[in-house]
Order: sequence, then C-alpha cells, then structure tokens
Amino acid sequence: MPQNHQIAVEFRDVTFSRNHRPLVSHLNFSIFQGEALVLLGRSGSGKTTTMKLINRLLTPTEGEVLFDGVPTTQWDEIKLRRKIGYVIQEIGLFPHFTVERNVGLVPALEGWKPKQIKMRVYELLRLVGLEPEQFAGRYPNELSGGQRQRVGVARALAADPPVLLMDEPFGALDPITRLEIQQEFRRLQQELGKTVVFVTHDIQEAFVLASRIGLMYGGELVVLGTKDEFMRSLHPESLAFLQCLRSLQDNL
Ligand SMILES: Nc1ncnc2c1ncn2[C@@H]1O[C@H](COP(=O)(O)OP(=O)(O)O)[C@@H](O)[C@H]1O
Ligand SMILES: [Mg+2]
Repeated sequence: MPQNHQIAVEFRDVTFSRNHRPLVSHLNFSIFQGEALVLLGRSGSGKTTTMKLINRLLTPTEGEVLFDGVPTTQWDEIKLRRKIGYVIQEIGLFPHFTVERNVGLVPALEGWKPKQIKMRVYELLRLVGLEPEQFAGRYPNELSGGQRQRVGVARALAADPPVLLMDEPFGALDPITRLEIQQEFRRLQQELGKTVVFVTHDIQEAFVLASRIGLMYGGELVVLGTKDEFMRSLHPESLAFLQCLRSLQDNL
C-alpha cells in the first residue's frame, strides 16, 4: 500500500545482540508517515527491543535505524527523543506531580510560558476525554487505570511529536475500558495524522488499531502487511494468532 508515502523510520538490516545472542535479527522495514504500525508477537519475540531501537534507548549491533533519513546514532539524543512520544504501561506518571504538571512536563522543559502550557494541557486533557476542571489538579493515585493511561497518552502528545511509540500501553486495563480506549485512540491517531508504532501481544487489539501489522517471531519480522494480507498469511505464527481469534469466537 503506502509505496508513495514518506518514510518516517527505516530499519536497514538491523541486528541487536546481547552477549553474542541476537535479540532481534536482520530487521528490514519502513514505517510510513501517518500510519499505525502494530508490532504483534508473543512475549519475548523482540517487540520492545525493536521499539527501543527507534528512540535510541538501544543502538544496532549491525545495520542502522534511520529517523527522518538520518541514522539514530547521528542524532542528538535529546532532539531525537523530543520528536518521539513514548507511552508504556508501568513507568508512567510522576506520582508526586499533578495531572497538569505531568502532562505539561515536556513543554515546560522546552521553556514554554506557563499560560501556554496550561492551555495546551487543558486542550490535551479534553482530547483524551478527561474534563480538565475535574482532573488537572489530581494526583496519579487519584485516577483509575484507564484515566492514568489517558493521561499518559496526553503527556506523550504534549509537545506534538510526529511519532508515537506505544509499548502495550493498555495491557493492564479491564476489557471494556480497554476496547473503549483502543477505539478512541484509533480515532485520535487518524485525526491527528500521527505516525504510531504500537506493540502488543493481543491480536484483537492489533486488529482494532493497525493500518499494518508486523508479526514478530523469534526476533525476526516474519510477516508485514495490511490486515487483509495478514489474514491471508500462511506463516505458522500468523495461523497460530488467527486461531486464537477464531477459538474466542467459537466459544461464544
Ligand atoms: N537487557 C537484556 N539482556 C538480555 N536479554 C534481554 C534483555 N532484554 C530482553 N532480553 C531478551 O530478548 C528477547 C526479546 O525481548 P523483548 O524485546 O523484550 O520481547 P517482547 O517485547 O516481544 O516481549 C527475550 O528473549 C528477552 O528475554
Ligand atoms: Mg515487551
């Protein structure tokens, strides 16, 4: 599909090893601007490692990762991270900061004026479905899990980074809240035109969010394509994931 789209991130024959053992091997793929690429795979398949190679929490042992056409190793680390929002499940918000201060963190670091920060924070809270008057002054422990993840998304969006990395951000939520936030996030992503790389082991979640699915298995990207292409894939690992979906439906 997006042959003629601009490339946001490109993996060129990337291998990352620890103690001479490759955790991911020979990754070759591009992420296009504005797409939602879901990296799907069972636990330990190399999804988080792949993600960390994008924002340079890790650097390739072999090959290179290009961000906006420039290898991550040549980027100024701070500048690179400012272009990439990061949402994860656990290490989240600062517990001793209010919601307002958590969301306004990066703009404050970038030297925005207090008034501007406040306007931006309120705008973002509304965007993720939290009424600012009600939530801006609360602390993270005064929020439900779903509300905390919304704040996490708002914080990642605060300085308007073109790319968002999301590593199983909704994993800990109850299934109803989870579906709600998935659907809202999909809408938000399309509306804002962000490039999103989303990691999950949940095929149902992959189908809600993805414009393309990349399937990881044993540190390799074994399938990459649209949902239709994924459905037609005959790779044993895609068949195993599709079987999970079917057995769910069969039990209804
Ligand atoms: N710091 C590390 N040192 C050594 N091995 C690691 C390290 N981090 C992850 N691994 C291993 O690398 C593989 C891929 O891990 P990871 O990318 O976290 O997988 P996923 O996110 O798909 O669950 C796993 O086998 C994991 O045990
Ligand atoms: Mg992981």
